[in-house]
Parts: sequence; C-alpha cells; structure tokens
Amino acid sequence: MVHITFIDSSGEKRPVEAEEGSTVMEAAIRNSIPEITAECGGACACATCHVYVDEAFVPLTGEASPQEEDMLDFAYAVQPNSRLACQIKIGPEVEGLIVTTPARQG
Ligand code: FES
Repeated sequence: MVHITFIDSSGEKRPVEAEEGSTVMEAAIRNSIPEITAECGGACACATCHVYVDEAFVPLTGEASPQEEDMLDFAYAVQPNSRLACQIKIGPEVEGLIVTTPARQG
C-alpha cells in the first residue's frame, strides 16, 4: 500500500492508503474524499478530479498527456502543478504523495 495525503481547500488533511496500480482518483473515491467528484469515472473526460500535486512530487508523478492537458483547460483555477487525479498512477515511487483539492471542480 502507498500512503497518500489529501488536503482540502480549507487545509484539512486526510491520510489514506492506496493500492499500487490504482489511481489517485480511485483512492479518493474509495475514501470519500470531498472536492473530487470524478464524474466520468476516470476516462480523462470530465476534469472533475482536478488536484494540485505537492511540488516535491511533481517530478515523480510523470507528465500530463496531451489529452489530460486539453481536459485541464476546463478545470477551475489551474496551476502549473495541476493534474487530473485519474491520470496519476500509484506506485512505490509516489509513496507519501500529497495532493491538494481545489475549492470547486469544473
Ligand atoms: S475522473 Fe473524469 S477526468 Fe478524471
């Protein structure tokens, strides 16, 4: 299991354990993380799983694909460290990952 901490827009931290091979979005849904709605179920087609990746983990979570970049255009308050949680695979390299959720999606 890989440890991930979700921080919501008010600063509340929610540490969870996530299965390797799943995605950050799946970990969020399984743990009822607020502020992630994931309406398309992980198809990279809704941008309602938008998160900000902690700067220390940006190099470890890989690059956004062109499709993900296109979808991020529809997200609210996009920053350079914005990603779609359904496109971040969980593996040992992201142990301790910290992501923050925006105040709203879409
Ligand atoms: S769940 Fe829809 S884009 Fe991530």
